[in-house]
This record gives sequence, structure tokens and C-alpha cells, in this order.
Amino acid sequence: MTSSEHLPGSSDLTAHLDRAGAEAELFDLLRIPSVSADPSHVPDMARAADFLRAKLETLGFTVRVDATSHTGKGGQTVAGHPVVFAQREVNPNLPTVLIYGHYDVQPEAPLEEWVSPPFEPTVRGGRVYARGSTDDKGQAYAHVRGVELLLSQGDLPVNVKFLLEGEEEVGSPSLAAYLRDNVEALKADVIVISDGSRFAPDVPTVTYGLRGLSYVEIHVQGANRDLHSGSYGGAAPNPINALAEIIAKLKDDQGRVTIPGFYDGVEEITPAEREMWAKLPQDDAAFAASIDVPALPGEAGYSVLERLWARPTLDVNGIWGGYQGEGSKTVIAAKAGAKVSMRLVPGQDPERITQLISDYVPTIAPEGVKVEVKSLHGGQPIKVDADSPFVQAAGRALKRVYNRDAAFARTGGSIPIVADFRSILGAPVLLVDFGLNEDAPHSPNESFALEDYHNGILTGAYLLQELGQVGESEQ
Ligand code: BES
Ligand code: MN
Ligand code: MN
Repeated sequence: MTSSEHLPGSSDLTAHLDRAGAEAELFDLLRIPSVSADPSHVPDMARAADFLRAKLETLGFTVRVDATSHTGKGGQTVAGHPVVFAQREVNPNLPTVLIYGHYDVQPEAPLEEWVSPPFEPTVRGGRVYARGSTDDKGQAYAHVRGVELLLSQGDLPVNVKFLLEGEEEVGSPSLAAYLRDNVEALKADVIVISDGSRFAPDVPTVTYGLRGLSYVEIHVQGANRDLHSGSYGGAAPNPINALAEIIAKLKDDQGRVTIPGFYDGVEEITPAEREMWAKLPQDDAAFAASIDVPALPGEAGYSVLERLWARPTLDVNGIWGGYQGEGSKTVIAAKAGAKVSMRLVPGQDPERITQLISDYVPTIAPEGVKVEVKSLHGGQPIKVDADSPFVQAAGRALKRVYNRDAAFARTGGSIPIVADFRSILGAPVLLVDFGLNEDAPHSPNESFALEDYHNGILTGAYLLQELGQVGESEQ
């Protein structure tokens, strides 16, 4: 007997999807430019939070829009973006599912590369193009509509809470304190998150691992002012050259990070995982072709999926210094800098890694410059127990939508707050992703396939049904 057979009247919700309604509503949310990194968008953050509050209230939820804050670098209190917290209790004996998502989005720049405006959702070829369409408004809103779909056919099979934050894209600085202050209200049996990408278009996926993150800036200071490169060149230290030397030394020719101690404690990939990943329909050549590159350089001795999912790495994400205008200017800059992110895996601790790079960079800096490493933010890596009844329930929900077995995959991205969910709230997390890498999150022309959105709505609804059954069989 399949699980859907003991769910009378609700075994197939496809016919009850209101596709047009679900799209129109999501598009309204996408029109709000809720860019968390940019202070000029503070009013838009409030509008987005209010949009979600109003919607969840129409679904019978009790909703709070809570102001947040955190302690800044100098010890001062910094106002954060609001958290939307909603709950609908059906029956205290049923399990409680907390759905987490984020309504903030990455900055839209570079604007000129967008085919249609980032905050004017536009449908082309079955996809909606807009900033936040896949990351994470579309995926989070699929759960809202999934709840609505269930309600349109009766009542909810579980108690539902929503936690929708506005600071994920800036490292969730206020959320851990919010979790600590609201442990009781946020209590749940399982936390569901859809904020990543599934393995491939035709492969429904339960994600069981996220990488962690340590993000720093390297600042290099040379002379007390920009210098004439004829009068001083060859004698004065050049901070841009120095920065380039430092960066070049951070990885060796085998693609390994050279920071002493960086790999200490890194959990090895198990033979079972190796085998499972090797069976996934991964085509490295197609992966390279999809981003128009002739080769995929990386750590020697590991497959592409292993490098992405289970190996730590270091990437420069930004670099500045010197003259960037038209034509030439003969100058030796006084300063240069770079933003460096390190993706971490289980066994690595972000604070320790930040300390290691801070200690190491001065030792590899050439003479004559001052260097400083500043920590921006970090996040713990996580791995979910793939044998948990919740993961099994997600597999069944996905099978009802896609009619195929779900893959169990890890992912290279990070959601720093997820480890705090486990440690502060003590609840297991379940990662069920609806997006795809080709949705181009964080890039110009971010999009979300409308089919993926509607399948996400169905998956959200079936998942709550399946999670209700996990509760029953355990009680
Ligand atoms: N949704 C992503 C995380 C993600 C991306 C998970 C790809 C799985 C696959 C999230 O919004 C994000 O962008 N996280 C940031 C970290 C944050 C501290 C800015 C990331 O991974 O860079
Ligand atoms: Mn996201
Ligand atoms: Mn993101």
C-alpha cells in the first residue's frame, strides 16, 4: 500500500492547483525589491514582510512581524530586518512542522546585464525572470501556496509554523539571537527548508548536506598616498602586486588550500557516498559547457561532485585597488584589497578557519606592505541524517509529484543559520530543494521555472501529509 492510499480525498492535488493565482501572487512579491544588503531598501524589507503577514493571515495563521537586532563590530546595537513568524495550530497532538525561508534577495547588479528589469517579473519560455525568483521567494512561497492548497481541500494534517527572515543574504546576523529569544514559540518536530537547487531537472532531490562558510577581507596598505609610478616604481612597495602574490600563494598547483591546519579534521567522504554519487547522472563536460568553460580546475584526486559537496575550498570573490577608469594612469596605489570566501565541510569550524587565515596571510605577505584580515561572517557546515523518517517522508512526497525516486545529494552552497536550528531549537532539518543551478541565483537574469514552482507547491502539500503520517506512526 502506498502512503497516498491512506489519505482519502487528497491523494492527488494536481487538479486543484490554481496555477494562475499562485503565479500572480508570487509576482507581486517579486516586485518588491527586498535587497537586504542595501540600507536604501529598508522600507522595501518592511513591505515584503507585510505582504507575507497579510497573506498568512488570510490562511488563518496568527502572524507576528518582529523587529530584530544584533550587536555590531564596535559593540553597538544594529537594527536588523524583520522576521515574519506565523503559526496555525490544528491539534496539539499532531506533529509541528516549521517552514523556514528568506524573503530578502541579493543585490540586482549588474543591472545592464538583465534582459528584463530585475524587479519586474517577466515570463519567457516557461520561466519567471526576477531577482529572488528561485532564491528564495519562489521556493518559500511554494510552501505558502502548498498550505493554501491543503486548506482548500480540508484541514492541515500537521501544525504549521513559518519563519521567514530578511537577512539570509547578509549572513543572518540577527537570527541566532532571535531563535534563542523565541525557543518556545519556534518549537517544532522538524524544520523544512527549500532554499537550494535539486540535482538535475529530472531528478527530485532531498539534500542532506550544506557547506559552511568563512568570509574575510584582506586589506593591503603600501605608502601613505598614491605614488607616481615613474618616480617610485621599482623601489616602493606595490600593494596590488603584494595582494596578487598573497592570493596566488593561498592555493597550490594541486588545487589545495595552503593555509596550515586548513584540512585538519575534515570528514572523509565515505565509500558508500562515493558510490552513491558516482551513480548520479553527472556529466562533467555538460556542466563545463553550461557555463562556457573549457575545463574544470579543482582539487586533484576528487571528482567534480566531491569537490563541490564534500571538499572545502577558497575563492576570491572581489578585488580592488588602483586606477579603474578609462585609459591609463601611471600610479602605484596606496591600498588594495580582496574579499575571500572559504567553503567549509563537516569537521571544520568557521571561527577556527578565520583565525588560521588571519594568522597565515601576514606570513606570506611580501616586504614593505601592511596586511590586515577582517572577518565578515561565517557559518557551520551541516549534514542531515539521511536515514531519518523525515527524509523518508520527503522521498515519498517527491515520488508522488515526480513519479520517480528522489536522489539524496549534498550541495555546495551555505545556509549558515541551519546549524543554529539544530543547536538552538534542537529540531532536525529537512532540505527539499525546488530550484536548479541553471536558475542563476545571485546572477543577472535569475529565474525560476513555473513548472518547478507548481511542483514545489504540490511537494509542499504532500510533504505535510507525509510528515503527519510520520507523527502518527511514532505516537
Ligand atoms: N539559497 C542559498 C544557499 C544555497 C545555494 C544552497 C545553492 C544550496 C545551493 C542562500 O541564499 C545563499 O546564497 N547563501 C549564501 C551564504 C550567505 C551567508 C550569503 C551562500 O551560499 O553564498
Ligand atoms: Mn537562499
Ligand atoms: Mn542566496
